Amino acid sequence: MSPPWWKSAVVYQVYPRSFAGSGGAIGTLDGIRARLDHLEWLGVDAIWLSPFFRSPMADFGYDVADYCDVDPLFGTLDDFDRLLADAHRRGIRVLIDWVPNHTSDQHPWFVEARASRDSPKRDWYVWRDGSPDQPPNNWAGTFVDGPAWTWDDVTGQWYLHCFLPQQPDLNWANPELVGAMHGVVRFWLERGVDGFRVDVVQCLGKQPGLPDDPPEVVGIPHSALNDCAETHPILRDLRRLFDSFPGERMMVGEVYLLSTARVAKYYGAGDELHLAFNFPPLHAPWDASAWRRRIERVIAELEPIDAWPTWVLSNHDNRRHRSRYGGSEARARAAAVLLLTLRGTPFLYQGEELGLDDAIVPPDRRVDPGGRDGCRAPIPWTGAPDHGWGVDDPWLPWPPDSSSRNVDDLRADDGSILHLYRRLLRARHESAALQSGSLRLLPTPDGAVAWERVADGDRRLVAVNFTDAAVDIGLTGEWVVEVANDGRGEGERATGRLAPDQALLLRGLSSRA
Ligand code: GLC
Repeated sequence: MSPPWWKSAVVYQVYPRSFAGSGGAIGTLDGIRARLDHLEWLGVDAIWLSPFFRSPMADFGYDVADYCDVDPLFGTLDDFDRLLADAHRRGIRVLIDWVPNHTSDQHPWFVEARASRDSPKRDWYVWRDGSPDQPPNNWAGTFVDGPAWTWDDVTGQWYLHCFLPQQPDLNWANPELVGAMHGVVRFWLERGVDGFRVDVVQCLGKQPGLPDDPPEVVGIPHSALNDCAETHPILRDLRRLFDSFPGERMMVGEVYLLSTARVAKYYGAGDELHLAFNFPPLHAPWDASAWRRRIERVIAELEPIDAWPTWVLSNHDNRRHRSRYGGSEARARAAAVLLLTLRGTPFLYQGEELGLDDAIVPPDRRVDPGGRDGCRAPIPWTGAPDHGWGVDDPWLPWPPDSSSRNVDDLRADDGSILHLYRRLLRARHESAALQSGSLRLLPTPDGAVAWERVADGDRRLVAVNFTDAAVDIGLTGEWVVEVANDGRGEGERATGRLAPDQALLLRGLSSRA
């Protein structure tokens, strides 16, 4: 039996507001469809679409007012169906982003629940008695400077929101709510989506009695601490639902707990999430010993339970890795070699294949309550003033250097970072070792990390120099440079010497070509 598609896939995250426009300031589903050529040319296997559902956009779509409809800003359900069909025709799978922990406060469920204490939907959310000046516990909200609770004057109770007050938490202990949410899952799986990225999975279950967070973590958003047994049966039920559909549908969960050991629990015994994001590497600095430790943690925590790892450097919630790592393109290129050759499923974030830095967003253009605007800047498709959007001034400013750092110009230059990503994706597709092989860390001098990937007769070696000094990794055996982050020496015998900031993917000479 061949392994499921999501183990060998490279997934590309599309943030619909910013991917591609069709004449307006905000991107659309039609805009995405019109740019599928780019993704097919690049060689990605799947796309994950951040939320495009009806939403008042307090959290840019992560506050959903109707899980089963497209917000008019982005288009219609018909546009979605066309996008899905076109992607599938090209062999690209489609994951959608599901936000099961909370709805918008404008969702009809919450409007109904809020109307009275006797509403049949009251218990679909989390309400507590108390006095208006004393929240029911010490949980801190996320993206707000204050508690995870809002007092509701009309009915004289507090409601819980791990995120913004406009994002009331759902009560997954209520069976009717669970039934309604399973209905949402069925709606999209029947429509043909290949799976879901599941938002803030670790928050779904809540500990009975909602006990205070311990004093030493008071002030840390509760969303990053909630990690309790109640979530696991919820995930097992969802997994059964997913597995009842044909065609290897999958769930990749955002488990925002900054410990790989904790993340590991969300795979269950192969009966919970298919994949889980592991964010400690995203938060690691560009430093060889930090990265060696991160890779060791993944081996130690995930391999014994047979959980398939994921790797991600950038997304819509964090500064882009190029900016975090100091802004150098050489490092961004080395990071691409790292991300695409580790053991596990890599997730790319739109624009990293262009080597984008975060946009500089002046104070009067900032819109996100969490301060995440810089990484959400629109993708520049051309060098023209409208960068292929049909408007010169979209909802956020363009990223730096868009007149040259855009899809058209980088595609015309086969030495560009865009072509490097494409070569790496092709190398992955052609190598069983890279897709599914084992990973063994090799001894290396300070400043570098190297690992070997092996499957059957196929062997690859990857070496990354995290520093700006040359380093000798002392190769044994005969290797050919398959991909170099700077393009140098590809097709030639490897010497074992890494230039400053260099990262190499090497093919064993005895290996399949
Ligand atoms: C996740 C999303 C983030 C959102 C939050 C609340 O962390 O990635 O963008 O703000 O959940 O839904």
